[in-house]
Amino acid sequence: MGRLQDKVVIVTGGESGIGLASARLFVAEGASVHLVGIEEGLLGEAVASLGEDHASATTADVTDEAAVERAVDACLERWGHLDVVFSNAGISGQIAPVAEQGSDGFARVLAVHVLGAFHVVKHTAPRIADGGSIIITSSIAGLIGFPTLSPYVAAKHAQVGLMRTVAKELAPRRVRVNTLHPGPTSTPFQDDIELRFTGEELEAANKFFDDLIPLGRHSTVDEIARAALYLASDDSAMVTSVTFSIDGGLAG
Ligand SMILES: NC(=O)c1ccc[n+]([C@@H]2O[C@H](COP(=O)([O-])OP(=O)(O)OC[C@H]3O[C@@H](n4cnc5c(N)ncnc54)[C@H](O)[C@@H]3O)[C@@H](O)[C@H]2O)c1
Repeated sequence: MGRLQDKVVIVTGGESGIGLASARLFVAEGASVHLVGIEEGLLGEAVASLGEDHASATTADVTDEAAVERAVDACLERWGHLDVVFSNAGISGQIAPVAEQGSDGFARVLAVHVLGAFHVVKHTAPRIADGGSIIITSSIAGLIGFPTLSPYVAAKHAQVGLMRTVAKELAPRRVRVNTLHPGPTSTPFQDDIELRFTGEELEAANKFFDDLIPLGRHSTVDEIARAALYLASDDSAMVTSVTFSIDGGLAG
């Protein structure tokens, strides 16, 4: 028996990086997954690699409420029930001092992370099974500040407020709601941030961040996936309204 045997999981941003690694682990643990994202080609490849017996997908931008609702409908139609929600889609946004941040770009980062997570939670909360689990991927940037990253840091902090509210609202149904806070994790998404943040070549940019992390290295997507699995499964049955860090000690 897998730790998510016969569970159904919806994963936004499921076509790459942390979302895809988590979907792969969830399927290995007995779950079926419904991936939601904006990259249609990558979603198709992900479903093919996970196997259509265990995976399906909807192309949807999480800032579009009607599209999120359609994606949740598609998940329920395909799999019949919903047990775990992994709200994980994200973008990094502009890296610049606050006085140089564009308002449209700031609003877009807030929209993807905060409005997007809100849409996902709003349309899954009434349909998730009692005893289910909702996980929102925040970040170390949801716990501490980083200069030049004001849109991303503001968005990732705001997700914690959403999580704490919904955790209280859904506790009577034993639905748990937590935020996941990865530190620097080796993905093209993070490489892009580090290149722009440091202005260095990739190797030097990665080393700059490795040197900040007490455990001395980036996390892998599989390490983040294992933390997501813990929050998704009954192993964390008494864990709700928690900010769960996997960052090698960086935020400590
Ligand atoms: N990699 C890291 O170091 C790190 C650290 C902390 C937090 N995070 C967070 O983890 C999550 C996943 O990041 P990742 O590193 O796997 O990068 P990624 O770019 O591989 O994953 C982000 C996913 O979100 C999707 N997406 C983007 N905008 C979307 C939208 N409007 N609607 C639907 N889907 C959308 C992308 O297509 C992509 O699949 C993000 O929320 C990110 O902020 C990453």
